Amino acid sequence: MKKLFIKTYGCQMNVYDSARMADLLAPLGYGMALEPDDADMVILNTCHIREKAAEKMYSDLGRLRRLKEQKSEAGGSLLIAVAGCVAQAEGAEIIARQPAVDMVVGPQSYHRLPEMIARISRGAGSALETDFPAEDKFDHLPEENAHQGAAAFLTVQEGCDKFCTFCVVPYTRGAEFSRPVAQVEAEARRMVEAGAREITLLGQNVNAYRGAGPDGEMWGLAQLIRRLANIDGLSRLRYTTSHPRDMGDDLIAAHSEVEKLAPYLHLPVQSGSDKILAAMNRGHTADEYRRLVARIREGRPGLALSSDFIVGFPGESDADFTATLNLIRDVTFVQAFSFKYSPRPGTPAASSEKQIPEDVKNARLYELQELLFAQQCEFAETCKDQVFSVLLEKPGKKHGQALGRSPYLQPVHVADAAHLIGQVHDVRIAAVLRNSLKGVLANEAETMAAAQ
Ligand code: SAH
Ligand code: SF4
Ligand code: F3S
Repeated sequence: MKKLFIKTYGCQMNVYDSARMADLLAPLGYGMALEPDDADMVILNTCHIREKAAEKMYSDLGRLRRLKEQKSEAGGSLLIAVAGCVAQAEGAEIIARQPAVDMVVGPQSYHRLPEMIARISRGAGSALETDFPAEDKFDHLPEENAHQGAAAFLTVQEGCDKFCTFCVVPYTRGAEFSRPVAQVEAEARRMVEAGAREITLLGQNVNAYRGAGPDGEMWGLAQLIRRLANIDGLSRLRYTTSHPRDMGDDLIAAHSEVEKLAPYLHLPVQSGSDKILAAMNRGHTADEYRRLVARIREGRPGLALSSDFIVGFPGESDADFTATLNLIRDVTFVQAFSFKYSPRPGTPAASSEKQIPEDVKNARLYELQELLFAQQCEFAETCKDQVFSVLLEKPGKKHGQALGRSPYLQPVHVADAAHLIGQVHDVRIAAVLRNSLKGVLANEAETMAAAQ
């Protein structure tokens, strides 16, 4: 039995891809290793979104080179593969910079890994696959054997045609592509059979989903969600990441009509300044975003929002930044990811002459995060004494404790609930901690009250 170690950086789509690479290599005799030291092959599944993410990969590669040398001195060997978005963006440069690397494979070509491994074992040197192949990788992957647990992720859409001026994704993942409805549904059913109670549909622009339907028509995300909501045993559906421009009326209606759809939406806005939104090529104004949120909340009162923000985009003035703070105050978010703008090679914004100094970026990020954290805490306070259906995912640190997530993705720990792991259970929020909630199993009366 050979051993495989995969390190995953970046977004949930990479997490999904890593699981599929493990599925792909299992028939070649690879079981999973818990650390690189025990592995015969290491895959770094990389992210190119910000400079730091890419640099981390090179420092990991340095360590792996030394490990490879030690192993070969001891008569063993180690195959090193770089997959994911840095592989796609930098290709052969990676091997030039770190010759210990055997394989470089892009996110749309990893179904070719077995063939690449065969080429290397024939002594053909290193292998590079970074084309966007004509064939669809999903048609060439084996059925998933890695059991993802109660909360599972399912990629339904990939790639991006939006070309925001700061972003590498359209270059690393290629054009928008959606998997057919039947393929997605079959995978979702297998996940539920294997114990999934919640499925998150993934895509770089998941609400741009347009997949071939069983009736020969092209289906949108709302239709796909309604179809999957019929699966018995599935309690909850989520989707991420969505773009404000693709929030169609049918999807907004699904939020009010499909009970299994979580009352939570990740809807990145990036900035609250119209000037910056235009320079980013986001295709909407700040007020259009405000109105969109109001419409979604009209149909689903209490819908909680999360978002992504970039501070220090080229040309961002104090007034532009204040507009972002104002938008946050108007909309209110229960959670958010915020980043300093990071110039990425080959993207239009990177060559702008209006770059913002690092200290200004730092100060803005600090102020933005303070505001967002205050909103997160305020929301958490409103959860006290409420009864939520919580998906209990795994054991907690304390004996008998279970860790789960609220409908709003807040971590919840529940005492004496380890026997319920893998299930959705009603939980009363007993206390609000800094980054999590403390829950107790709700009694029957509370459960009935919550259902009304
Ligand atoms: N498709 C999603 C986002 C994918 S990338 C969308 O359109 O919103 C995830 C987040 O990384 C982005 O929302 C953005 O906030 C951040 N990001 C992307 N490129 C960045 C860059 N060059 N510098 C800083 N943050 C960036
Ligand atoms: Fe990147 Fe914009 Fe596409 Fe999102 S929509 S992946 S931010 S280019
Ligand atoms: Fe990173 Fe690629 Fe995801 S750049 S965020 S791993 S799509």
